[in-house]
Amino acid sequence: MIQKTTAAITAVSGFLPEDKLTNFDLEKMVDTNDEWIRTRTGISERRILKGEGLATSDMVVPAVKLLCEKRGISPEEIDCLIVATVTPDMVFPATANIACDKVGAKNAFGFDVSAACSGFLYSLTLGASMIESGRYKKVVVCGADKMSAITDYTDRNTCVLFGDAAAAVLLEPNNDGFGIQDSLLKSDGSGVAYLHMKAGGSLRPASIETVTAKQHFAFQDGQPVFKAAVKGMADVSAELLEKNNLTGEDIAWLVPHQANLRIIDATANRMGLSKEKVMINIQKYGNTTAATIPLCLWEWENQLKKGDNIVLAAFGGGFTWGATLVKWGS
Ligand code: UT7
Repeated sequence: MIQKTTAAITAVSGFLPEDKLTNFDLEKMVDTNDEWIRTRTGISERRILKGEGLATSDMVVPAVKLLCEKRGISPEEIDCLIVATVTPDMVFPATANIACDKVGAKNAFGFDVSAACSGFLYSLTLGASMIESGRYKKVVVCGADKMSAITDYTDRNTCVLFGDAAAAVLLEPNNDGFGIQDSLLKSDGSGVAYLHMKAGGSLRPASIETVTAKQHFAFQDGQPVFKAAVKGMADVSAELLEKNNLTGEDIAWLVPHQANLRIIDATANRMGLSKEKVMINIQKYGNTTAATIPLCLWEWENQLKKGDNIVLAAFGGGFTWGATLVKWGS
């Protein structure tokens, strides 16, 4: 029997800015406190990309360089770079394009995917399909967000949540069945009201008025998003297991988007998974939007075993949500 070509994850990497913003720092900036932030979200600190002229691509570049080093390949061997982000360097051209140039990926084409916190799963599914088609051999999928660029540090509803980071995986063809097995991706544009950036797009181009009204920052109505996220992430993860005839017992790891510890717990419970099987680093990095899932894979890489069934799950602005099943190994 001819084994279908799958897209294996053959390397993982990331980039974390050095500067930390702790809950205690935030206490001095807005009317909040460490206890509220930790109990309501699970976050203790986050990383912030500081420095004049530094953008999302400046986090993508070191992540892609490290990925190539780890795999022992030259950036010139990359066929395609997909960057999932809601904080591109510019509205256009794509951050992926800029990063390809900076990293020396001369033979690659690149494009960005805008799906907020689900951006990495959307991009991973796309990248896997490109590998499965047989047309491409090395696709890099990177989740990267400089959330500090669109965060209002006078708004306690949002500024305690977000951080900056990038993380990436390399996808390559595999004939032993390892890698991306299945994905369920969903979206519901009616969720736009609850999580969005009001201005800077074609609907409301930047003007003195939009700047004065602070419309270039992420806006979130937390509770409706929370409710939709708990249901969306848990439902889609359960649906993915059922579709693949798996139960929580068959799953080695859940890699949830890190937006709120309470959403993560609800998803793990629904899947019947104990806490030891759930990757959680929200306390250190906060919500880094598209970067959270690959950042976890990078951090837990040494604990992953060949053949492990791993469920990646996300929910984010749009609304967008989804879950992906990965068989670890190459
Ligand atoms: O990653 C993309 C998807 N995003 C998510 O999944 C996020 C989903 N939403 C959430 O995680 C939660 O809704 C938040 C963490 C954003 C907020 O938690 P919450 O338990 O829903 O709090 P809340 O918005 O209902 O606010 C409760 C109270 C309010 O005070 P009153 O009206 O009860 O007096 C807020 O004003 O907490 C107050 N509050 C704060 N207090 C201290 C809101 N933010 C803060 C703060 N510090 N930073």
